[in-house]
Parts: sequence; structure tokens; C-alpha cells
Amino acid sequence: MHELLDSALARIESAASAEELEAVRVEVLGRKGVLQALSKDMGKLSPEERAARGKLINTAKQALETAYESCKAVFENAALARRLESEWLDLTVPSPGPRPGSLHPITQIQWEIEDLFRSLGFSVLDGPEVETEYYNFDALNIPKDHPARDMQDTFWLEGGHLLRTHTSPVQVRGMEKLGPPLRMIAPGRVFRNESVDASHEHTFYQLEGMMIDRNVSVGNLIYFMKTLLTAIFKREVAVRLRPGFFPFVEPGFELDIQCLICGGTGCPVCKQSGWVELLPCGLINPHVLRASGIDPGEWNGFAFGLGLTRLVMMRYAIDDIRWLQSGDLRFLQQF
Ligand code: PHE
Repeated sequence: MHELLDSALARIESAASAEELEAVRVEVLGRKGVLQALSKDMGKLSPEERAARGKLINTAKQALETAYESCKAVFENAALARRLESEWLDLTVPSPGPRPGSLHPITQIQWEIEDLFRSLGFSVLDGPEVETEYYNFDALNIPKDHPARDMQDTFWLEGGHLLRTHTSPVQVRGMEKLGPPLRMIAPGRVFRNESVDASHEHTFYQLEGMMIDRNVSVGNLIYFMKTLLTAIFKREVAVRLRPGFFPFVEPGFELDIQCLICGGTGCPVCKQSGWVELLPCGLINPHVLRASGIDPGEWNGFAFGLGLTRLVMMRYAIDDIRWLQSGDLRFLQQF
């Protein structure tokens, strides 16, 4: 009997899991268990023997139950500890909150240039992206049969409208609305039916500028263009001025900057030339002033059309224009 009880105790204590422990409990302490079997033939014993056997069984039962309870507690504690570990949550960690976005690099530079020109007394104007033929071409001295129309591959819309091919129509709107003297810029989106490659997009950004006053000279124009470029690049950039033809300026210039992507050695962005056309400009053609009711005998001025998209590419050394409208977060998160 002592051996039976000892081995029952050993089995309880060596149970490897809560399930195994439960199985041992049923076997040892259950209705068909060992203790029950030992109590079975008690009736045949003498009263003294019975009393001694009963005492023994009770002591054994208590010992087994105590052993069982303490083993059970060990398994329960372990299970609880595992749960606490896996479900642990630190409620004091500050929430990361919504991830802040950032301004598109074109918007950033646009706002910078707006600030600069506002400080120089210029107004910032806006114009429609769907324009009329008159504002986009005719009022700018580009009549219907003029070859200059072919320089800008136009998206024509039904009803004689078009997607503006440049921001220059805002010059005309500005002159009509504000009259001389006038200092204005007009940033915005323009559209051309280009085949898209590393340096051409059908949709890009320009920033138009116009100043009308008395006795405006090419010297004034160059001064403003240099102020603009120094503010943008915050360093010396090599520039060159070439004659350039635009029907709405006379004389007209192409202001090129040395390519900042390749440093002038040639790359896809500068079409291997080392130079990038950035700032076409010139003195306003008298026809343009006259078309907007301004007397060219009294007033003159300059105009420029900064390639904002190209400028952004130069400043951040972006080697493919298609990144800008890609919506790719890997690109956008860098700004
Ligand atoms: N609008 C012209 C273009 O997009 C650029 C330009 C603007 C040239 C103003 C001269 C003066 O090609």
C-alpha cells in the first residue's frame, strides 16, 4: 500500500502538462482510483485494522490532494505568465499620429520664387488652364498662320478652346486687369502634346514674369534675372544669353544655365549639350502692349517665362522629369 501511494505521488509530481496532471488525478483520486480500490475491502477488516487503514487512507488522500493542488497551481501560473507576456501592451507609448505629408518640390520652389518677387513689388496672378486661342496666341502676336504656333504642340479642345501651352496668356490678362505700371508673376501648369521622355512631359510648370514701366531696359531685365537665379541656386551658376525668337518679345533671348546634373559634360537632361534652356525672356513687343490697350510710346517692359519644372530638376539633380508627376512616395518623401 505504501508503494502504491508513493508511486501515485511520483506520477502527480512528474506530470508534464496540465492535461497530463488531470489524467493522473482521475486515475488516483477519481471514483475508480487507487484510493477507492484500497477502501473497497475495508468491511472484511477487524475494527482496529479498519481504523488504522482509514487513517492511513485519509492521510494519503490529503497528501495526494495537496501535491495535486500545488502542481496545478504551477501549471496555471505558467499559463497566466505566458498570456501576460503575449498580450502585453504598453498604453503609455505616445501614438505616432497621422504621418505628415510634405509639399511637392515644384510647390516649394514656386512659393520661394513668389516670396522673392513679392518682396520686389510684384503681384502673383493666376490664369485658367483652359484658355482661348486669343489669349494663348493672338494677343501675344502669334496669329493663326504664324509658324511660331507650330513650336508649341497644342492640345486643342472642342469649341475653339485649348490647354494653355505656356503661362504667357496671363501676361495679357494681367495687362487688361491691372494696366501699367505693372509688376506681375504667374506660376502655373501648362500642357503640350509632347512625346514623353527623360526631359519632356505633356504637363509641366512655368513661371511667367512681366514688368511694365517707363524706360525699362535690357539692363533691368538682366538684373532681375540674375537676382532670380542667385536666390534660387544660392551660388554662382554659369549662364549664357543667346538671341531667341518669341513673337511677343523684341529683342528676345534664351538664357541658358550650365547643366547642374552633369556639370556641363553632357547628359540626357541637357540633351548632351551641357546647357539647359531655363529662362526665355526679352523686351515686350510693342504689338503686345498695343493689343492690350497700352501705349508703347509711353510704356515698355520685359517678360520672362521660367521653366519651373526644369528649374526644380536642376536644383535637386533630378535626372528624369517623369518622377515629378509619378506620385511615387519613394520620390516624394525625399522633399
Ligand atoms: N512663353 C514662352 C514659352 O513657353 C516663353 C517666354 C515667356 C519667352 C516670356 C519670352 C517671354 O516658350
